Amino acid sequence: MSKTITMLGLESSCDDTAAAVVRSGARPEILASIVAGQTALHADYGGVVPEIAARAHTEKLDTCIETALDEAGVTLADLDAIAVTAGPGLIGGVLAGVMMAKGLSAATGLPLIGVNHLAGHALTPRLTDGARYPYLMLLVSGGHCQFLVTRGPDDFTRLGGTIDDAPGEAFDKTARLLGLPQPGGPSVEAEARRGDAGRFRLPRPLLDRPGCDMSFSGLKTALLRERDRIIADNGGLTVQDRADLCAGFQAAVADVLAEKSRRALTEYLALEPSEPLIAVAGGVAANGAIRCALETVSAEMGVAFLAPPLALCTDNAAMIAWAGIERFRAGHTDDMTLAARPRWPLDRAAQPMLGFGKKGAKA
Ligand code: KG4
Ligand code: ZN
Repeated sequence: MSKTITMLGLESSCDDTAAAVVRSGARPEILASIVAGQTALHADYGGVVPEIAARAHTEKLDTCIETALDEAGVTLADLDAIAVTAGPGLIGGVLAGVMMAKGLSAATGLPLIGVNHLAGHALTPRLTDGARYPYLMLLVSGGHCQFLVTRGPDDFTRLGGTIDDAPGEAFDKTARLLGLPQPGGPSVEAEARRGDAGRFRLPRPLLDRPGCDMSFSGLKTALLRERDRIIADNGGLTVQDRADLCAGFQAAVADVLAEKSRRALTEYLALEPSEPLIAVAGGVAANGAIRCALETVSAEMGVAFLAPPLALCTDNAAMIAWAGIERFRAGHTDDMTLAARPRWPLDRAAQPMLGFGKKGAKA
């Protein structure tokens, strides 16, 4: 039985400032998980402004850490180590977290562990459900979209990913085009419930090409064209037009994710046929229609499906603390040379993904 580890985790790679305390044991325990979002700060700009995000992280990190330690009922002296997101992400925010963690480490003598943000998401099913390696992870958020064969805390194979926008980014842009509030995912999903998904036949990008790579930026352009055509013909959008556009868009994203998951699972089953599991993470996994499409594909292919609770699917520091625990157990620590990295692919052998989205590099 390995020693119990109490880990402080810090996350500041996009627009959530987060601190958490996680303790390993027979079952890992999240003693505290604090997330301070920045939605209101960026609301006037139609997207995350890196400079504003970095300043807000710098201002909020210390209070998030204090609150997390208080809620967990521990002091710095009770910790075994400090884990921090060292990339990929918006560099100013990542730097704010890394500098804070280095300062704490220097002041306390606690070991420092740099964590890849994507590894944090990918290892979450082990924190929440004790998932055993290997499994297939589909990460679908506002900044990321990729399939990862997850075999260990530092052992990932990427089977494919988006070559342009992440699906959450496409939901957010769609909401903006239709005058719906941010974040776009929940507002588009709410509209889509009243809409007819069959009225507008939007494209299913890259389904005509083999493999698991995806593209979502053309979908948003197709939606823009439909919107402008209706406005030109009728002088404006009715409430029903808007709901139908949302339903058509959501159905297209769900179809693409379902078909690409089918292909990723086929590749995965050839590599790891025993007790197969697919897990999802990221804000888009909250979408009922998308979740249902993924569950259907998994069931068809005889693969177990796992979606961690939403608060741990979206950006948080508990996942960073947990990934830190896994790295620490494997004997990995960093020192004061730990660098903040805007890009940091999990699968070092894979070709870099294209593009640099609003929420950071595609990794
Ligand atoms: O994982 P997350 O909190 O942050 C990162 O992007 O890293 O994901 C946020 C994204 C946003 O783009 C948001 O619009 C999307 O997840 N999202 C959804 C839903 N809820 C959140 N997308 C579709 N349907 C939803 N219900
Ligand atoms: Zn994330």
